[in-house]
Amino acid sequence: MPQYTNANIPQKDSQDLPQWEKTSVVGQALPRIDAYERVTGSAAYTMDVHLPGMLHAAILRCPHPHALVRKVDARKARSMPGVIAVISSADPETNVPVPYGWWISDGVPMRLFDPHCRYAGEEVAAVAAETLEQAVEAVRAIEVTYEPLPFVLDSQDALKPGAPPIHDHGNLARPVDAYTRGDVVKGFAEADFVLEQSYRTACLVHSPMETHVSVAQWEGRERLTVWDSTQGVFPHQQYLAQSLKLPLSSVRVICKYMGGGFGAKKELSHHTIIAALLARKAARPVKLALTRDESFLGVGNRPANSITMKAGVKKDGTLTALQFTRVGSVGAYTESAGDALQVADLYLCPNVHTQETDVFTNIGRSRGMRAPGFPQCSWALEQTMDALADKIGMDPVEFRLKNLPSASQLRKMPYSTSGLKQCITEGAAAFGWSNARKATLGKGPVLRGIGMAACMWGFPAMPPATAIVKLYLDGSVNLNIGTTDIGTGTNTVMAMVVAEELGVPVSKIQVESSDTATTQFAQTSGGSGTVVRNAPAVRAAAAEVKRQLLELAAAELNRPSGDLVLRQGKIAPADEPDQGIRIVDLRALKAQRVVVGVGYRRPNPPGRVSLPFAANFAEVEVNTRTGEIKVLRLLAAHDSGRVMNRITYQNQVFGGLTMGAGFALTERQVVDRQTGKVLTANWHDYKIPTARDVPVDQTCVPIDPRDDQNNVGAKGLGEPATIATAPAIANAVFNATGVRVTQAPMSPMEMLRLLNQRHTEKG
Ligand code: MOS
Repeated sequence: MPQYTNANIPQKDSQDLPQWEKTSVVGQALPRIDAYERVTGSAAYTMDVHLPGMLHAAILRCPHPHALVRKVDARKARSMPGVIAVISSADPETNVPVPYGWWISDGVPMRLFDPHCRYAGEEVAAVAAETLEQAVEAVRAIEVTYEPLPFVLDSQDALKPGAPPIHDHGNLARPVDAYTRGDVVKGFAEADFVLEQSYRTACLVHSPMETHVSVAQWEGRERLTVWDSTQGVFPHQQYLAQSLKLPLSSVRVICKYMGGGFGAKKELSHHTIIAALLARKAARPVKLALTRDESFLGVGNRPANSITMKAGVKKDGTLTALQFTRVGSVGAYTESAGDALQVADLYLCPNVHTQETDVFTNIGRSRGMRAPGFPQCSWALEQTMDALADKIGMDPVEFRLKNLPSASQLRKMPYSTSGLKQCITEGAAAFGWSNARKATLGKGPVLRGIGMAACMWGFPAMPPATAIVKLYLDGSVNLNIGTTDIGTGTNTVMAMVVAEELGVPVSKIQVESSDTATTQFAQTSGGSGTVVRNAPAVRAAAAEVKRQLLELAAAELNRPSGDLVLRQGKIAPADEPDQGIRIVDLRALKAQRVVVGVGYRRPNPPGRVSLPFAANFAEVEVNTRTGEIKVLRLLAAHDSGRVMNRITYQNQVFGGLTMGAGFALTERQVVDRQTGKVLTANWHDYKIPTARDVPVDQTCVPIDPRDDQNNVGAKGLGEPATIATAPAIANAVFNATGVRVTQAPMSPMEMLRLLNQRHTEKG
């Protein structure tokens, strides 16, 4: 799998633009350009795609957590009414690899209809029929002979000798990952206090509003079009081509509107290849939409982790050592289960040791989920920081401020900008931290407390990114970008960038995006990098259009183009604003009818790293009789570089806070120990926070520094919005009750158990 690298990418933006000093459109609170379509329901999502002659498909999934498929008998299914095509591992054409999108997963095979099923829910066969009901009926009629195998659900059990091997090379998903800086033994010796504590986080599921869905259509046997609910049409094109052995040019992937992914729609999933194979076999278009329960089984999760943290601190608040040990369950197919980057880089500490072990288990595959690996590690790190502050009697805000690094210790280079300090101080001020902290001491059954946690995201966004801007003779504009707006409002932000650069109102700009046949390559939308990667190319493309317009005007005004400025649709000499010409009156534009600008993004400048930071604050109420935890208010201060659009910025932060509240309080995948089946494969038993679980009182405090890492100054927002929320809530619970809940989610039962335990200990 080729990795995106900076090699061979032009070292300059195609227009070498200085950072905006002042903006008039970017940074405003503008509603989304597609708000009307989305709200009225006229936006056609993949689920809404309906083609003439289209069939509907359903998947037969393995009921066992670990089994060999000995025989698939589909004779009865094939003869049922409406059934057009059936495929399973018995059909040679299904023997195709399913490529991973993550380098850490290379070397672990993942194939369609693998006769060795490794989790309850793995695909065994599929049917395409005239109606969905017929497909579902036919799936039930397929007779499969399974040989059930012993299974293992817990990562620690999976490492024990004699555990059932899930892959040929055993259950260690990848080599144990260790990082060492300094000497932790020495660091602990220098500490006045050393704390050690274990933490656990549950397995969570992405749960986007729109489930995974693919519609596949062939023209002949060589040209495939797939409408897909995906975070990136170009990676999908690449993996489909690789899987089905087609040239890239023969595969078209389209995703116009997208109903959320959070990482679960980043790479290709099995069902998309299944839809393509069924469509080819049936010679008709096929829609394959996963049901809500299927979306809980086969398309990824945020893996469960067991973490132990040991930390040393001096009385004055100096951190002397951090030791982090993590064992995580990646499920049946690999990805990384956690990421200790923050342990090594968020706070100043000379002695750090992290050790991370990823283990296969007979649970659905793991997949990057909103800041892959970071929220789990933040749960342990930020509670450790809180416990250390408590131990030395220092305010948690002061304690963090005392341990801020001036550069990346991991990468050994400075940050382009780091607003971490401001996130903490301005966040604390806006939250009313000092007063609230004093006011929270309480007696009686309901206790109040406040807590905070900080975080960073770990990977800067890079090129390639290419954009095309077309200005038509009436002055209206098309922006053409390959990237997918996954619900975050990136298309709106991109249109605002064009509006800023060209002085054309957003209402006159249309965005064509996310279609491999009509737009150019873009990376998948994820990693908090969609705007950071693409907006600089968009700005460069708009600037190229402006450059050409100034050239055209220079000829007509008889002035060098360097003397001219474009303002509000009019080009005029800077010193004679009245002597201008409107763009739409340019004779040359009338003749050529369109001006086309192509923009490329340069790599990030070497020698510094550009990353977002955040600090989250929470106030909670704990009912000591019922164990119920209620979040009263949340505040998030973010340094994500330039605020591109105040509304979409807030939307992302509020969404991230909500997801973090789910991590802290309600979300947990439960797998039955007896049968290995997921018991929470629905929105009743798997509890994402509802409007009643998240506080109305949520505040977003943008820090908005000037960052010159790229020509728009953005650093990324999607992932840091969620990372530090759960530990902030847990720290607030500690502040309220004096009890540290180490297991996420913090259930009322566990809360009561800990409160009782403390009561007993106190005697
Ligand atoms: Mo994300 S987990 O980079 O969609």
